[in-house]
Amino acid sequence: MKNPVTRRQFLENGTMAAGAAAVTAALGGCGTAGTGMTFGPAPATRVSRRTVSPNEKFNITLVGCGGMGRYKLGNFMDSKQCNVVALCDVDDKQLAGAAEDAAKKLNQKPELIKDYRQVVTRKDIDLVIVATPDHWHAAPMMLAVASGKDVYCEKPCCHNIHEGRLMVNAAKKYGAVVQVGTHQREIPHIQEAREFIRAGKLGTISMTNTYTYGNEVFANMGNDPDGPVPPGVNYDMWLGAARVLPFNKRRFHNTWRWYFDYGCGMVGDWNVHLQDIIMWTMGAVSPISVSCVGGHFIIEDDRTTPDMMQAVYEFPAPQDAPTSKQGFIQTYTMRKVSGKPWDVGGYGMDFHGTNGMIHLTRNDYVTDPDKWDWKFWDGVKKQGRIGPNQSEWRTGNMTKEQKNRNFPGADQAAHQKHVEDFLACVRDRKPPLANLESHYYSVAACHLANVSLRVGRRVYWDGTRELCFTDRELRIPDREANKYLAREYRKGFELPVV
Ligand SMILES: NC(=O)c1ccc[n+]([C@@H]2O[C@H](COP(=O)([O-])OP(=O)(O)OC[C@H]3O[C@@H](n4cnc5c(N)ncnc54)[C@H](O)[C@@H]3O)[C@@H](O)[C@H]2O)c1
Repeated sequence: MKNPVTRRQFLENGTMAAGAAAVTAALGGCGTAGTGMTFGPAPATRVSRRTVSPNEKFNITLVGCGGMGRYKLGNFMDSKQCNVVALCDVDDKQLAGAAEDAAKKLNQKPELIKDYRQVVTRKDIDLVIVATPDHWHAAPMMLAVASGKDVYCEKPCCHNIHEGRLMVNAAKKYGAVVQVGTHQREIPHIQEAREFIRAGKLGTISMTNTYTYGNEVFANMGNDPDGPVPPGVNYDMWLGAARVLPFNKRRFHNTWRWYFDYGCGMVGDWNVHLQDIIMWTMGAVSPISVSCVGGHFIIEDDRTTPDMMQAVYEFPAPQDAPTSKQGFIQTYTMRKVSGKPWDVGGYGMDFHGTNGMIHLTRNDYVTDPDKWDWKFWDGVKKQGRIGPNQSEWRTGNMTKEQKNRNFPGADQAAHQKHVEDFLACVRDRKPPLANLESHYYSVAACHLANVSLRVGRRVYWDGTRELCFTDRELRIPDREANKYLAREYRKGFELPVV
């Protein structure tokens, strides 16, 4: 290749737009080399796709048959619109578990396959569910869409911002319908609160907060030594692009999410759901800056992601809704080993407007209108500093009915609806509610908190060039921060060129 650009040069100096192909080569052949792909809307490329008539069932496969994969497979089977044709996992035990589910629910006997490439390219498959650990979302998803499949991909869609952008471009290029697992968007009371806020009824919003408190024990995953790879596991394939480390059950099923090699910690794992509702409601796309502090304060195991984190985002005024006029501040607070059980104050989202605040969880919708401090406001009134409409201002349109409502079961119902919404969109060739691109921006914001944490300073974000800067004017690229926008892919596990 002429004038090779190294990954480092790209990330230090280049722009994403100029560098898509260059980074491809530099990262060892991954990405978009030779496709001429740019960062505007990519032209749809013709790909053969089976037309599934309204009475016909979809042929589906699940890649990643762990906790969430099996749960989602259950949703797809319960839709009564799917045949499970094949299952894919690198662990025989996981495959057997999912096969049992398909036998029980549908009396079907899917083929069990350990290499995703043999599954997502199959002609007889219409839809692919990707529920692997985060570091294994991009490759199967990209190969699937390039093979004419539509994809339900678990959240967070990507392990790093750069591969997320490649995924968005691939979906656009092949005209694929891609829904991501941020199912909270389907919850009716969250939608209702969103409409209320976007209609301006909460007033002007200047601050939003999300938080997750884990009710966990100090020792947590423990510190057992490394051990042998369990029988029936293709560990090399499980590691994929990540560096090779000896096997340890802490860095394997389920708890991989606390290691940066495979996941992104609590901010990308759980806060992505909450951050997504904040940004989707506010009409926010990219932050101006992100500042994050955190580290290991309490938990005693060897995780690489923090057990305590405080992120502060500055967002510009959104274009598409009157939610905030001058922009707003979003904070994310994460604290493990708290005394709060998950469903009793363990997580939540708050919107603070000039009329009051709204607090949301998957089960609650609580409004708290601002109250008049009569003494103070009478004084202000007397001084003539209050206009005719302003007397309405403090209580706005926040009505009594919206106070303290509980919706048990909303979460589960939303999981099912999210899948059925996806299937309807596949039939109609429409973008689903949590379509990949809009989800990508929420995930990018989550990843940026980790970037700021890892460099130990505030980063300024250019949402157009998708690069970090050290200054608000976006003149000086933040070389150190930009290194965290992508990863090194282990030889043989580069992203597919699609
Ligand atoms: N939407 C939600 O509410 C929600 C909830 C939990 C998890 N998730 C997401 O679902 C995904 C899976 O999480 P989990 O908790 O089920 O993890 P898990 O560890 O239980 O399951 C992951 C499975 O993927 C398999 N796998 C790993 N590499 C593979 C490969 N190359 N090919 C095929 N299979 C491979 C593993 O063997 C394992 O069985 C994650 O991205 C997670 O963030 C979403």
